[in-house]
Amino acid sequence: MSFEKKYTADIVVEKVKSILSELTGISDINGIKFTPGDEKGDVVFPCFVFAKSMKKNPAVISAELSEKIKEKGLDDIFSEQKSTGGYLNFFLDMKKFHSAVVSDFVKLQDKYGSLSKGEGKTIVIDYSSPNIAKPFSVGHLRSTNIGSSLSKILRFAGYNVIGDNHLGDWGTQFGKLIYAYKNWGDPKVIEKDPIKELLNLYVRFHEEAGLNSDEHPEEDNELEDKARAYFKQLEDGDPEITEIWKWMRDISLKDFDKVYKMLDVSFEEMLGESFYNDKMEEIKQIAEEKGLLETDEDGVKLIRLDKFGISTPLLLQKKDGASLYATRDLSGILYRKRTWNPEAILYVVGEEQTLYFKQLIKASELLGLGSNCVHIAFGLMILPAEGKFSTRKGRVIFLEDVLKDAVDRARKMIEDRDFSEEKKQEIAQKVGIGAVKYNDLSQNRVKTVGFDWDKMLSMDGNSSPYLQYSYSRAKAVLRKAEYNGDRTWNDSVELEKDEKQLLNRLSQFHSIVESSAVQYFPHIIANWLYELARDFTSFYTNVRILSSEEPYRQNRLILTDFYSSVIKTGLSLLGIETSEEM
Ligand code: ARG
Repeated sequence: MSFEKKYTADIVVEKVKSILSELTGISDINGIKFTPGDEKGDVVFPCFVFAKSMKKNPAVISAELSEKIKEKGLDDIFSEQKSTGGYLNFFLDMKKFHSAVVSDFVKLQDKYGSLSKGEGKTIVIDYSSPNIAKPFSVGHLRSTNIGSSLSKILRFAGYNVIGDNHLGDWGTQFGKLIYAYKNWGDPKVIEKDPIKELLNLYVRFHEEAGLNSDEHPEEDNELEDKARAYFKQLEDGDPEITEIWKWMRDISLKDFDKVYKMLDVSFEEMLGESFYNDKMEEIKQIAEEKGLLETDEDGVKLIRLDKFGISTPLLLQKKDGASLYATRDLSGILYRKRTWNPEAILYVVGEEQTLYFKQLIKASELLGLGSNCVHIAFGLMILPAEGKFSTRKGRVIFLEDVLKDAVDRARKMIEDRDFSEEKKQEIAQKVGIGAVKYNDLSQNRVKTVGFDWDKMLSMDGNSSPYLQYSYSRAKAVLRKAEYNGDRTWNDSVELEKDEKQLLNRLSQFHSIVESSAVQYFPHIIANWLYELARDFTSFYTNVRILSSEEPYRQNRLILTDFYSSVIKTGLSLLGIETSEEM
């Protein structure tokens, strides 16, 4: 299904572009600013952009162009045009403009803001990717939130998105785990609290093997050798060992699913590292053929990257023949290319793997695997150091607890409201989880994120509850008005300042979606939604809606409906749900 998505704001900018290129003969014009409502001009063009090619100073260019535009005459969506210093300033006929923006909304409804930019193109997003038998960490939580939001944003921008949870379910650590399980494990105990017990086994292995002390280097360690043998059996498909591994994977996934359910996240694919077990030979072959595969003095196979300013080589095979994280990632690139031929593969992984992704991307280029891979890095998230979490050790419980705590806190906020028990729980869920997601997504992802409950759950700051609440206020107005959805906009009346401000903001939604999608930055949408909600709050506070006369009332209801639709859509792009009552 494809819509004709020509937004009024784009049409306006196109018109300025086309008159400029008609007058100058320059076809590729950049730098036009669209800031509806700005007193300097709704559309502003900085003429220094032409200074070089025209060999004139910007003020002269601007004055000359302005004269010519006046002679030619402008499209009637503009009311005025002038030159100030080095700038050309265009002013819109606001009545025409606003009425066109409303009709965009009337036409597109909840598709308003969506783009056709990505049509026919696929993007693979590799995100979440926790490790089997290990705790789902805060880093995985960030990857999950950011990756899931990006997949929604890119889909809204028209792309076909394949979200792939690249589970860490393969590698030599499973040899250790299987050894530990066979010697000290009790399936019944493990089933009760899988991640915690499997983690205990893993820690015990390291203790018993004395791997934490210097006297027992990995190489000549008896337990290590046994573990290696188990992993070899697993790689070779030994039925008994495979059975144990499968069971560990299943029970781990059950635990992870609790988190995914709370976050309402799902994936198109969950291939995991194990999926590439039988596909890695080809990578080594390609590396060999291209003369890139080297064997070091210990028998480790690797690709050297120093010529490209990366001093650490990328390891493809251990001396015992076992594959590595990178081998599976390279196979993944090849597989994804063949299966989906994506425009890009995005890896939503913490910044601590920056060097690794530099190596991986360079190696993939050298091997000619032919995909545009991008590391979508993010900073740390610092969970509250004090309080009820500090004594907990099992970190999986920890993370689930954090989410549950968020819901409990949200529940306290609405406890005295007049809602049914069920309704209260539903709202608490949306508000609590929303607060955690918004805290993560409203800041530039590369920054370190804190965890300040008061700020996160604040009803009047840059927080998810504030945005959700403004939505439910808008919905309450529409309910009281018995708004029937008549969307005939009356463009003969003068709009109040707050109404104009709100409409101007709403006219920018699609371009915000676009910047967020091309830069892979959810916070661009989040912060814009906050500005938008503030505009709505001013409108709601300063302008009478329900008690106003027609045709003002009708227009104001349309505006309220427009706002509620956009805030709902915008929040949904961050994975945050809204409630009509709150
Ligand atoms: N499982 C890895 C970890 O927890 C993250 C995997 C990221 N994705 C990838 N294709 N390497 O560190």
